[in-house]
Amino acid sequence: MARAIRINIGIAGCGAIGSRMAKSIQQDLSAQCRLTGIFDIDIGKAERLAKSLHRKEIVMRSMTGLIKNCDFMIEAVNAEDTRPLIRQALNAKRSVLSMSVGKLLNSSDLFALAQKNRCHLLLPSGAIAGIDAVKAASLAGIDRITLTSRKPLSAFSENPYLAQKGIVLSEMEKETVLFEGHVSDACRHFPKNINVAATLALASRCPRKLIVRIVTSPEYTTNIHEVELEGKFGRIKTQTDNLVCPDNPKTSYLAVLSGLQTLKQHCSGVLVGT
Ligand SMILES: NC(=O)c1ccc[n+]([C@@H]2O[C@H](COP(=O)([O-])OP(=O)(O)OC[C@H]3O[C@@H](n4cnc5c(N)ncnc54)[C@H](O)[C@@H]3O)[C@@H](O)[C@H]2O)c1
Repeated sequence: MARAIRINIGIAGCGAIGSRMAKSIQQDLSAQCRLTGIFDIDIGKAERLAKSLHRKEIVMRSMTGLIKNCDFMIEAVNAEDTRPLIRQALNAKRSVLSMSVGKLLNSSDLFALAQKNRCHLLLPSGAIAGIDAVKAASLAGIDRITLTSRKPLSAFSENPYLAQKGIVLSEMEKETVLFEGHVSDACRHFPKNINVAATLALASRCPRKLIVRIVTSPEYTTNIHEVELEGKFGRIKTQTDNLVCPDNPKTSYLAVLSGLQTLKQHCSGVLVGT
């Protein structure tokens, strides 16, 4: 019997998400794909990850080397702008799974490039439920959509926008709305907390209607995202109460799992609710 073709995967960014995905590809997805390259701007991180996988040969010294050595690239990089890396991979006709959805709000050029080069630019659903339903609802039109993200105080440490507003997190005693407004402003003021808002904006196809509310409290211990929307389809309300990733308290575990599931579905060709 013919063996199924395995997809060669390269990972850019060997932090919390990249490392966890690398381990899962090796342990759980070996029938569908194999890890053929990893790259991090901090070479020590790539070397430590490769050592933990007993695969020293997969460390790449450049993005060019990474792209050459894979059919499909996972972008899990915390750079200020991840678009050049994605463009480089798409130009070389590699499909990309991008975890940094917050950087892709105004990136129709990259989606067009993927289409032109007959490859995919995949985005995971991240740390919220219901993205499948939001996409379906967008076909009929969405009249009203809001995202309320509740996060512990620690999620906002060293945020320049809050410092500029004179908000001192350590003095906060009760639940406080830090921001309410349009998604583009939320992305500008909370660049480390906006993947979910950007995912929702792209899925709903009506970013201008999306109102984002960011709330914190000394009582909060987890990241909770509530999504509400209304339109010709009816009404949707979801709440996702996230536990943090075992490797990184700043990342929701569901976000990592959604990246893995997107990869798994792509590699096996079985697309359910995507
Ligand atoms: N889609 C979602 O719901 C979701 C959820 C959480 C995090 N994220 C995003 O995923 C990305 C990765 O998150 P993480 O928690 O793994 O971050 P992390 O900080 O743990 O790791 C990021 C890694 O990228 C490396 N890096 C930085 N610039 C680079 C470059 N130019 N080239 C190669 N490597 C580079 C860093 O050295 C680091 O090792 C971030 O952009 C984050 O915002 C998305």
